[in-house]
Amino acid sequence: MGRILLLTIGAVCLANTALHAQAAEKDLVAKGQYIFAIAGGCACHTVPKETYHTGGRAFPIPLGTVYSTNITQDKETGLGNWTDEQIHDALVKGTRQDGSRILPVMPYVGYSGMAQEDLKALIAYMRTLKPVKKPTPELNTWVPWVRSVGIPLYLRVFVRFSNSPEQAPKSGIERGRYLVNHVSLCGDCHTPRNSLGVPNRSLYLAGASAKSGPLGEEVPNITPDKETGIGEWTREDIAEVLISGTKPDFDNVQGLMYEVIQGTPHGYKDMKREDALAIAEYLKSVPPIKNRIE
Ligand code: HEC
Repeated sequence: MGRILLLTIGAVCLANTALHAQAAEKDLVAKGQYIFAIAGGCACHTVPKETYHTGGRAFPIPLGTVYSTNITQDKETGLGNWTDEQIHDALVKGTRQDGSRILPVMPYVGYSGMAQEDLKALIAYMRTLKPVKKPTPELNTWVPWVRSVGIPLYLRVFVRFSNSPEQAPKSGIERGRYLVNHVSLCGDCHTPRNSLGVPNRSLYLAGASAKSGPLGEEVPNITPDKETGIGEWTREDIAEVLISGTKPDFDNVQGLMYEVIQGTPHGYKDMKREDALAIAEYLKSVPPIKNRIE
């Protein structure tokens, strides 16, 4: 009798533990989906109107053209047979499964400051992306040794990686700074680049012309300069554009900004208002820069 009771208790405990583990995994995936959303749905990995996350989008680089990769769980053409560690390293160090380098068009320099808790959740969510077989076109360039020599050299000369904290800041201006620089990567589009693709830090968030911006699009100045930036916008105005795409003049944003808001299908539009307001608060605190984008 006693033995049966013990066995029953044991079985109930085991089932309970399994349920807890399942619930914890579900929470982690939900959190990862949120990170994925406020990272703009990793929109660069989707060709507009094609199957989500299957890559193949062409990005012009100074040396040719690079194509975003298939990030679904397909074992052959996606990330299905990468370990969590390998995906982590791709996100924060820019290394591929074979150890060679990813071109810094993929914003691993920004993601290098993403918190470990968020990376872990993001990777758990990425594991749920349905496998779709679609090979990624090869890097197209006339320069030899780009991945083995060129990129490591570029990183050494031009790039400062960040440290990934254990936990992400939870609120206020620190939260805003964290999201802008390491998760939502506003500067990836709103900070102009030189002809080598290096961001011009003295024009941080001050907008880009069609030539210095991503994919040939003009990107507005979002520093608090009153004349050429968004100095006249309230925090609520900024939060509203991030969540709904509607500007204070009731116009809607277009192009790449529309893409990251709409997401794939998760995007900035899923952002909690408090996070959007934290971003707004941080944007209000950066130095205003006079830079008119026509
Ligand atoms: C993938 C590129 C990209 C990313 C990432 C991006 N933006 Fe934008 N953003 C744009 C483009 C392009 C426009 C112009 C859209 C238009 O003219 O309709 C824009 C427009 C805006 C505007 C409207 C400004 C105005 O004067 O009309 C604001 C505000 C803005 N972005 C803030 C942000 C913030 C904050 C982030 C980060 C949370 C961000 N953007 C991330 C590309 C991007």
